[in-house]
Amino acid sequence: MKLTVNGKTYDVDVEDDMPLLWVLRDELGITGPKYGCGIAQCGACTVHEDGVAVRSCQLAASDVVGEITTIEGLGTPNALHAVQEAWIDLQVAQCGYCQAGQIMQAASFLDLNSEPTDDQIDAAMSGNLCRCGSYLRIREAVKTAATKLRAV
Ligand code: FES
Ligand code: FES
Repeated sequence: MKLTVNGKTYDVDVEDDMPLLWVLRDELGITGPKYGCGIAQCGACTVHEDGVAVRSCQLAASDVVGEITTIEGLGTPNALHAVQEAWIDLQVAQCGYCQAGQIMQAASFLDLNSEPTDDQIDAAMSGNLCRCGSYLRIREAVKTAATKLRAV
C-alpha cells in the first residue's frame, strides 16, 4: 500500500491490519510517535491524519485515507510549529515520552479553537496521559501556543 507521511509517499508491504504506529516506527523508522498502551487510552502514539489527531496504535494501515503527519513533520523545514516553540519556552517535558503525542494533540486542537479557555484545553488534552504529571505546564504551553498562532 502507499502511505504519505510528512509529505513523502512510501510504498509499504505490510499486513492490512498492521497498526499505523508499527508501520511508522518499524517500517519507516519514524520514531516520534510512541507506544504507550496500544489500546487508544494514553495518546502517546498521536499523529495527524489530514490535520486531525488520531491514535496510530488503533488505526490499521489499510484504513488510512489521508496524509499522515508526525511530530517530525509538524513544523516546516526551517521553523518549528508554534506549539513546539511554546513547549520549549515553558520547558514542558520531563521524561519526554508522552510529549510528541501531547504536542500533536495540542496542534490539532488549536486548529479548531484558536482562543481556548482553560476548561476547553483540559478537555481537549484529557485523553493524553503524562506519567510525569506535566499537566499544568501543558495547559500553559497550549495557551502560549494559541497566542503565538493568533499573532501570525
Ligand atoms: S499507544 Fe496509542 S493511545 Fe496509547
Ligand atoms: S513527560 Fe514523562 S510521561 Fe509525560
